[in-house]
Amino acid sequence: MGVFVSTDGTESAGHEQVVFCQDKQTGLKAIIGIYSTALGPALGGTRFYPYATEADALHDVLELSRGMAYKNALAGLDLGGGKAVIWGDPEQIKTEALLRAYGRFVQSLGGRYYTACDVGTYVPDMDIIARETRFVTGRSVEHGGAGDSSILTAWGVFQGMRAAAEHVWGSPTLAGRRVGVAGLGKVGKYLVGHLIEDGASVVATDVSERALEWARQTYPQVDLVADAAALVAADIDVYAPCALGGALDDDTVPALRAKVVAGAANNQLAHPGIEKLLADRGVLYAPDYVVNAGGVIQVADEIEGFNFERAKLRATRIYDTTREILRLADAEGVPPAVAADRLAERRMAEVGRLRTIHLG
Ligand SMILES: NC(=O)c1ccc[n+]([C@@H]2O[C@H](COP(=O)([O-])OP(=O)(O)OC[C@H]3O[C@@H](n4cnc5c(N)ncnc54)[C@H](O)[C@@H]3O)[C@@H](O)[C@H]2O)c1
Repeated sequence: MGVFVSTDGTESAGHEQVVFCQDKQTGLKAIIGIYSTALGPALGGTRFYPYATEADALHDVLELSRGMAYKNALAGLDLGGGKAVIWGDPEQIKTEALLRAYGRFVQSLGGRYYTACDVGTYVPDMDIIARETRFVTGRSVEHGGAGDSSILTAWGVFQGMRAAAEHVWGSPTLAGRRVGVAGLGKVGKYLVGHLIEDGASVVATDVSERALEWARQTYPQVDLVADAAALVAADIDVYAPCALGGALDDDTVPALRAKVVAGAANNQLAHPGIEKLLADRGVLYAPDYVVNAGGVIQVADEIEGFNFERAKLRATRIYDTTREILRLADAEGVPPAVAADRLAERRMAEVGRLRTIHLG
């Protein structure tokens, strides 16, 4: 993987800035990737993960930061795309001093990069990082933050799913549809609530007994199945992957009975080409990074001083964005994932160019 030139066939190369940060005393080894600041400061979370190698950590930060540029552009935010990784096992090495050392590196970028939570980092960690830098979102409500971003992530997924339902069945509702939710975690739980309120029937699965017990107690009308394979093969209209990435692969797509896929999980397509496989099978795939942008919309709102109602209004627009992408996909004869990329690139180019108009 190269930073300046893509050497492994991915699209990652083309980043503005990649910063390696080290503090030997605390064991901090972090990489901050800034893909684009065309639309504003780069925003994206910090992933704290025990990568096998430094090359793996670099690969991940380059991929993730590029993805954030596209996600933020389509979310209508005046923010570019960035992401950071901390290389190590959070269970072993996460300390106040390490997080604060990391915060100082974020501060040293002078606002070109805003951080937030991701896998392995949580709201209380952001509060600690915020003691060293202003450029952090996803803090607790007590500290002026937006708190749990899964609330608007789920709301946004629901909006994207409504747009997809309208495209396929003519009406923007899930009422009378059967929706399969894989993963009853922070996002999946809220999503199930929205679906039931809208009049959908829900079938779900999770690997955690605690999550299943939550479903039995809270929504006894939800049917539970053994695993994601059983869910995919079930008689469902919509499949909502809300667990880990790679939910759509060469095995799941041929087995899928749903007509629509719309869920919260990041990187649902296991490899390039799956979007075509879905289209060929007549499955409408609402791109993950479009429909799961509610969380980043929620934390981005912190930069202006958090206002939940304003953030919710912005996340509601995921319905319009998804509609527009599906319309564009039809008009241009491409899968929705390709149409989404084109729309994001267009906004980055058209709005980003305005910065060349000198303001004196
Ligand atoms: N939380 C957010 O704001 C947000 C924003 C954007 C995207 N996402 C993405 O959405 C997904 C869910 O996020 P979350 O915050 O709810 O995470 P979470 O960890 O709270 O929930 C994930 C759930 O999936 C379950 N799970 C794991 N493997 C499974 C499997 N093989 N089959 C069925 N269930 C399985 C887990 O037990 C857990 O209950 C992730 O991919 C995340 O990256 C989350």
